[in-house]
Amino acid sequence: MAKQEDKFKKVLSHAKEYGFVFQSSEIYDGLSAVYDYAQNGAALKNNIRTYWWQAMVQLNDNIVGIDSAIFMHPTTWKASGHIDAFNDPLIDNKDSKKRYRADVLIEDYCAKIEGKIEKEVKKAAKRFGDAFNKDEFLSTNNRVLGYQEKIDTILSRMGKYLENEDLVAVKALIEELEIACPVSGSRNWTDVKQFNLMFGTKLGADASSAMDLYLRPETAQGIFVNFANVQKTGRMKIPFGIAQTGKAFRNEIVARQFIFRMREFEQMEMQFFVRPNTQSEWYEKWKENRLKWHLSLGLGEENYRFHDHDKLAHYADAAADIEFKFPFGFKELEGIHSRTDFDLKAHEKHSGKKLQYFDHEINVSYVPYVVETSVGLDRMFLAVFSTALQDETLADGSVRTVMKLPSVLAPYKAAILPLVKKDGLPEIAKTIINDLKFDFQMTYDEKDAVGRRYRRQDAIGTPFCITVDHQTKEDNTVTIRHRDTMQQERVAISTLKNMIADEVSMSTWLKKLD
Ligand code: GAP
Repeated sequence: MAKQEDKFKKVLSHAKEYGFVFQSSEIYDGLSAVYDYAQNGAALKNNIRTYWWQAMVQLNDNIVGIDSAIFMHPTTWKASGHIDAFNDPLIDNKDSKKRYRADVLIEDYCAKIEGKIEKEVKKAAKRFGDAFNKDEFLSTNNRVLGYQEKIDTILSRMGKYLENEDLVAVKALIEELEIACPVSGSRNWTDVKQFNLMFGTKLGADASSAMDLYLRPETAQGIFVNFANVQKTGRMKIPFGIAQTGKAFRNEIVARQFIFRMREFEQMEMQFFVRPNTQSEWYEKWKENRLKWHLSLGLGEENYRFHDHDKLAHYADAAADIEFKFPFGFKELEGIHSRTDFDLKAHEKHSGKKLQYFDHEINVSYVPYVVETSVGLDRMFLAVFSTALQDETLADGSVRTVMKLPSVLAPYKAAILPLVKKDGLPEIAKTIINDLKFDFQMTYDEKDAVGRRYRRQDAIGTPFCITVDHQTKEDNTVTIRHRDTMQQERVAISTLKNMIADEVSMSTWLKKLD
């Protein structure tokens, strides 16, 4: 646990020190659970967004992208169910006066049991050495099976209570498990109450006639209300998808764990419209497709797992999360939801407009069913950033901090470093930048010894450092250093463009998905 906490602290300090993420309005002591992306962070975030967008919109000829407004007609949220059902179950501790999400308290309790399973695995791995088979151990060890059964029972009971809106039973479960407030240590709890997560605002200057609006809590509704427009103008045939990325807002009560749970965040969502009764087949396809996208980034297969929901949102007939192993444990990274025809039907009812599709293949008009994929861009950022950040002990015993970012996502693709600030080397370096800058985001650094400059680039994840030295003047060659292996090779300047492109270009990475 202490190791995990240390790792997380390192993520926080590195994100700030190297210009990735700052607390919002820091000079005024910040605003809780709101963050700004700094120069390197904005570049990394843009690259993640582009990789998602191109994988969705460019690689699939039946998916188009839109960019709908954050403000929407307030009836949207009545229709979608967010006004009535977008609630979190909250509970207060009477001694510390701290407020918690009741389901998170119970999940954290289960995470502790999961920690015990991990301990058993570690002990066994040590005992059995090379002969250790983790899967076999997990499925046969009695103590582990007992822990797992306990977790499953608790989560399934909680799921049932929440689904039935039985908040008295949720409180009773917290008491039965003897969960104490992490701050006061007491079990002096209030009743569990529902709390709506949408932020309200007003449209119009005159207080008496101003219209009540909400900041959208998900981007998906902007897609639903545009379904008919996009289908007609794009002459889209079912099955087809509409994708979009954009800001969403939620008045999260338990806003914590840095950019994992924010009040203003960004989603990358895709709604895939299908013929009724084919949704489970598409749901399975999209689960597989999305996991493949994640795995293509090379952050390690062992860091992902599916979690099928017991408690379904008001709109879904099946739902699963792709969970990622963050520094604080496995948590939701992306949701894949089979949303039925709930949203389009609800918008038909509230707007009085037909949101149907005439299927020429079967000569039937119907409201399409929807399979949604929804991933948080900020959570993707945290997953990539925290996994890439590593302290590596080198052969000479020194430690280098390196961000082994998937090179397609790195803020800078290459740094150009003149060995010295004189003898015409900076001028040659700038000529190289001027040639490569049309294809890649480049950076230039001439300050300090070259070894220190390498470390600075390692710390922000730049895949290549290109050093211009005196030999360059004689034979037009440079040394290129690879971030992960630290190996250097001498290459002709004329080969740089292809060498870099082979490793970092979007097309190289997208081809892995096809
Ligand atoms: N349209 C479906 C939807 O919004 P969700 O599971 O509530 O489903 C989808 O959210 C994704 O959005 C989550 O998997 C997570 O990555 C991200 N997300 C949700 N709330 C968030 C928050 N407060 N801060 C950061 N990311 C969040």
